[in-house]
Amino acid sequence: MDRYAVIGHPIGHSKSPLIHTLFARATGQALEYSAIEAPLDGFAATLDAFRAAGGRGVNVTLPFKLEACAYADEVSERARIAGAANALIFDGARCRADNFDGVGLVRDLTVNLGQPLAGQRVLLLGAGGAARGALQPLLQAGPACLVVANRDATKADDLVRTLAALGLGHGVLSACGYPVLAQHAPFDLIINATAASLHAEPLPLPPQVFGPHTLAYDMVYGKGLTPFLRQAQAAGVTRLADGLGMLVEQAAETFAWWRGVRPDTRPVIAQLSVPLT
Ligand code: ATR
Repeated sequence: MDRYAVIGHPIGHSKSPLIHTLFARATGQALEYSAIEAPLDGFAATLDAFRAAGGRGVNVTLPFKLEACAYADEVSERARIAGAANALIFDGARCRADNFDGVGLVRDLTVNLGQPLAGQRVLLLGAGGAARGALQPLLQAGPACLVVANRDATKADDLVRTLAALGLGHGVLSACGYPVLAQHAPFDLIINATAASLHAEPLPLPPQVFGPHTLAYDMVYGKGLTPFLRQAQAAGVTRLADGLGMLVEQAAETFAWWRGVRPDTRPVIAQLSVPLT
């Protein structure tokens, strides 16, 4: 049987083995998908051993997404722009890297949640790896404006400058700190790509960013109503979503890349979703 795995540290709570097993069952693909915890200083050695044992590909999660780019012989443009890879495929002696997090996000927003992106006002919170991975796919979808806000505004500036140097985001992409957001009109879509929800911390968001039709999207999943989603709700927002759909959609993109068959994501999202309460 073809072998795949997710590699991270820690890896205990990963939903990827369950998601890929459900995909394999639904598409009739014979494969085995496990979770591997690599030592913090042993990512490459763990991958080498998995390949030697017949591994065909892996998903990569924290904290190895950067190292995954360095390990690969070939890195896709979007993984290069994201500065991180979340999927590897082993083609004989060659290893190729890609990043499906951003396309997974865009697909969840547009297909599952019915949120258009073209011509919309979008606010992206955070300037770490998660935000960086989302930027290019979001820009490709043609928003009217995409504002990146971060606690440390210089990091948001740096991110926007990096994209500008690649010829991306001109006239659409801008950066700021949280206080400046009070001067903006409400956004159609606000995506929380910060690590604040993981620590159950609220964000210093002025309430003016939320409008009655805003979709508030938290990339974190399985935590119910996060402080960010509660802030949105308190400001009158009724359209709330967590990142489970993004997780399942990126997994489906990876599965299609590996196996040439795209699984139906809806039954898997329905099976794994937890009510936002
Ligand atoms: P990741 O790779 O998951 O994006 P990261 O690179 O460590 O993680 O980035 C974490 C992001 O969450 C940063 O944008 C960070 O803001 P700063 O750059 O200003 O530190 C943001 N973040 C974490 N905790 C936060 C909080 N309590 N309030 C606002 N932003 C927070």
